[in-house]
Amino acid sequence: MSPLSVDSLSLRFGGLDALSEVSLGIPDGALYAVIGPNGAGKTSFFNCLTGYYRPSSGSVRLDDLDITGLGASQVAALGIRRTFQNVRVFPKLSARENVLVGAHLRAGTSFVGTLLGTPGLRRRERALAEEAERWLDYVGLAHQAASLAGALPYGMRKRLEVARALIAEPRILLLDEPAAGVSSVERDELAEVIRKTCQGGVTVMMIEHDVELVMQLATTVAVLDHGQLIAEGGPQQVRNDPRVLAAYLGKRRK
Ligand SMILES: Nc1ncnc2c1ncn2[C@@H]1O[C@H](COP(=O)(O)OP(=O)(O)OP(=O)(O)O)[C@@H](O)[C@H]1O
Ligand SMILES: [Mg+2]
Repeated sequence: MSPLSVDSLSLRFGGLDALSEVSLGIPDGALYAVIGPNGAGKTSFFNCLTGYYRPSSGSVRLDDLDITGLGASQVAALGIRRTFQNVRVFPKLSARENVLVGAHLRAGTSFVGTLLGTPGLRRRERALAEEAERWLDYVGLAHQAASLAGALPYGMRKRLEVARALIAEPRILLLDEPAAGVSSVERDELAEVIRKTCQGGVTVMMIEHDVELVMQLATTVAVLDHGQLIAEGGPQQVRNDPRVLAAYLGKRRK
């Protein structure tokens, strides 16, 4: 059984079907890519999985648990973490502090206690700060721990979001266009971070327009078009699928 699965998931905005009856399962340990033309419903799909949008109908399951309609923090507490298409870091906090925010809701962590700085928690606070630095190092940002997040270049902010998600030790990590707008060097570093994260036992879902990155990394590719799942399978199989080719040719990328 897939740990994360969706059944007949639909999402309507007024007269628009952002998602129509999408059903799929993400195998444990997969590097599962979600692709599709602009406006296909990819981000909406992630928003439904992570509690940012409430689906109009259908269900989302994590193992035996029906998580449909749970709020974003409840989903995060279950070990599903994400990054955003439009990076959402706290610009006035340091990179280290941004990562620390990700430890919030992690099992066994009292974030409020840490913030209040009660005696006995200081040691824990220091340990967490060191942990945050280890995750910054993991994404290649060790040298930026004290920098304000708002002052970091775009590609670094994207990696910072990945570190913030990973400090929570998620079981499932969702990345919304991690490579968009990053340099080719950063893209290769990012590919390495994604690969080693998956090898470390995290199931990764990734929305990505960079076809080469998808072909390089993904074990399974799902294709959305106009809110519908039009193909799912191995990268090569999907690449040669006539419906996929038609969807992309019909709507050229900007
Ligand atoms: N909150 C919202 N209110 C109304 N319409 C929305 C909302 N969020 C998304 N949509 C619409 O749903 C459709 C799917 O949008 P979505 O952002 O999920 O697409 P996407 O596949 O992520 O596109 P892109 O590749 O451009 O990021 C679009 O037509 C979009 O305008
Ligand atoms: Mg999107």
